[in-house]
Amino acid sequence: MKPTAIITAASKGMGSATAHELAARGYNLVLMSRSADIHTFAETLADKTSVHDTSVHAVQGSVTDEQDLKRLVETAMDKFGRIDALVNNTGHPPKGKTLALSDNDWHTGFDLIFMSVIRLMRLVTPVMEQQQKGAIVNISSFAALEPSVERPVSSTMRAALANFTKLYAREYAHANIRMNSLLPGYVDSYNVTPETLATIPMGRVGTVEEVAKTIAFLLSDDAAFITGQNIIFDGGMTQRV
Ligand SMILES: NC(=O)c1ccc[n+]([C@@H]2O[C@H](COP(=O)([O-])OP(=O)(O)OC[C@H]3O[C@@H](n4cnc5c(N)ncnc54)[C@H](OP(=O)(O)O)[C@@H]3O)[C@@H](O)[C@H]2O)c1
Repeated sequence: MKPTAIITAASKGMGSATAHELAARGYNLVLMSRSADIHTFAETLADKTSVHDTSVHAVQGSVTDEQDLKRLVETAMDKFGRIDALVNNTGHPPKGKTLALSDNDWHTGFDLIFMSVIRLMRLVTPVMEQQQKGAIVNISSFAALEPSVERPVSSTMRAALANFTKLYAREYAHANIRMNSLLPGYVDSYNVTPETLATIPMGRVGTVEEVAKTIAFLLSDDAAFITGQNIIFDGGMTQRV
């Protein structure tokens, strides 16, 4: 039986590269993003991967909307009857100086980065428990472990997600459900300045394809004993031991 994966924020960047990679590895896919781009992307991917007999379904909606998340999970269950893998990805949170950010900016970041994962896990976990199998990867940021002054909301909310990753992994390991977070430094879906580039020992940004391959590994049985980890993916940029 082909495995099924849900990927949120999948129309561009790391989400779309992960969709390509998982399709090539034989997953059926249910993809979400806010704009109609998700339909175009899903159609193009389905055409490209028809040789692998992959089914791709798109759900237009926001990870911050509980009803949209319900539709996403219902689509996966209606079309495929199971959810083997989930990639929790999202858009960019508000940026700004720590005390200049409004309450609304902080609440937006909390909903986008943290509550989106909690809400989707409430829906997906019973399915994975029933299957006695499931793997989840959250796309987070290096800022979860090394706070960035330019990104106070991202740094704070992603630190919370790093802790949730550990809590969830511990609580559901008995049901053979694994959760890990991938913490990218700079990736080619983002424009970096020459000054930022100079901080990366490898002298380059990562590629979305490299992100996708790492996620595919973490979702696979090759990573069956890896859970609750916050894995830095940054070309050697951060120095935390
Ligand atoms: N690129 C980097 O160097 C880097 C490094 C560390 C962390 N990150 C984080 O990783 C995540 C992905 O980054 P990326 O560079 O791949 O971004 P990207 O290329 O800008 O793509 C963002 C994706 O998120 C979707 N999206 C935005 N808001 C959404 C929402 N509320 N609900 C559902 N989908 C939503 C967008 O589609 P629609 O426009 O159709 O909604 C798009 O598909 C972001 O949270 C980013 O902050 C990025």
